[in-house]
Amino acid sequence: MKTRAAVMYEHNQPVVVEELELDDPKENEVLVRTAASGVCHSDLSVVTGTIYYDAAVALGHEGAGVIEHVGRNVTGFQPGDTVILSFVSYCGNCRMCQMERVCLCQTYDVPRGFLLDGTYRLHNSSGDGILQMARIATMSEYMVVPEQNLVKIDPHYSLEKAALVGCGVTTGVGAVLNTAKVEPGSTVAVIGTGGVGLNAIQGAVLAQAERIIAVDIAEKKLNFAKNFGATDVVNAAETDPVEAVRELTDGLGVDYAFEVIGNPKTIVQAYDMVRPAGSAVIVGIAHHASEFSIPAQRFVSSEKRLIGSFYGSCQPRVDMPKLLNLYTEGKLKLDELISRHYRLEQINEAFADMEAGENARGVIVF
Ligand code: APR
Ligand code: ZN
Ligand code: ZN
Repeated sequence: MKTRAAVMYEHNQPVVVEELELDDPKENEVLVRTAASGVCHSDLSVVTGTIYYDAAVALGHEGAGVIEHVGRNVTGFQPGDTVILSFVSYCGNCRMCQMERVCLCQTYDVPRGFLLDGTYRLHNSSGDGILQMARIATMSEYMVVPEQNLVKIDPHYSLEKAALVGCGVTTGVGAVLNTAKVEPGSTVAVIGTGGVGLNAIQGAVLAQAERIIAVDIAEKKLNFAKNFGATDVVNAAETDPVEAVRELTDGLGVDYAFEVIGNPKTIVQAYDMVRPAGSAVIVGIAHHASEFSIPAQRFVSSEKRLIGSFYGSCQPRVDMPKLLNLYTEGKLKLDELISRHYRLEQINEAFADMEAGENARGVIVF
């Protein structure tokens, strides 16, 4: 069948929207009609090569849709089911999966962007195979994905809201609740209050943090942050954020700092702004070749903790329905995350708006 998709053919060049040929689902695979795809910074990071994929790759890893057709041996899903796409495949049997750390499953060493049997499902008009970002590619009208990347949800949810749970909401809220396990009364700083960082702020509200300090360089983002529950804002374009956060916490530093940008400089800022024995949690995905350094002796004498957080340490099929439930109960904001809708053809404009700091989240609707 045919599908229109946003494809990265060359790093740092405009993304191409074109019609591709999509193969039928094979064993344990499912055909999904995409309803919506959020535009996350990680998509742009694939275009820039920060998150490295060989070209050509169909973009998108934050989406929701409806099942059209299931391949052989698919037991848990049927046509008509509404699903969120998860961007990890996990086996369910290995040690990490048994520890309920399914996003850290190491079972599949298939090269990036291929289906689990190491082949393509997407092909362009020249017959070349096209990779799928995160093995899903939500910026395509239709996707063939592994069954294990699907999370079934109640059909009454708006799929454009549910799409955001596929990455930004789960990653941001999960970093606070699952990875860091922030306690009530804590002081929290969030550096970078874009689509993911705003959700770290929401997570801090849910965790009943007492102080939530938002740090960003864009005034518009800091205004979003206030709407999502930040008690204080720091514009890092105007003031040293480490000094500012220390001043707001009687010189001590915060209990938890979340870095939600993916920049070695702000990662070190997060580490510097936590109090002794506090935790710096790194959520942002920095360039694959970048490194950061911290003073080794101070690391010991301060007893600070430095923690990576991938996909909010989530269990997709447990946490995503729970997050939607919180939305229903009015405890989680999803409507307010969507600043603008785009058509698939407007993907390059959506990326430009993201770089200009225009949106909380932009969403492509199909
Ligand atoms: N200091 C403070 N804030 C900054 C800085 C800086 N030096 N540089 C950028 N920012 C802010 C931007 O102004 C923006 O508000 O970081 C925010 C990033 O938000 P988005 O572009 O919306 O990115 P998002 O989709 O939230 O992703 C953030 O998480 O999943 C990862 O790969 C993703 O690393 C990326 C991060
Ligand atoms: Zn993402
Ligand atoms: Zn596993």
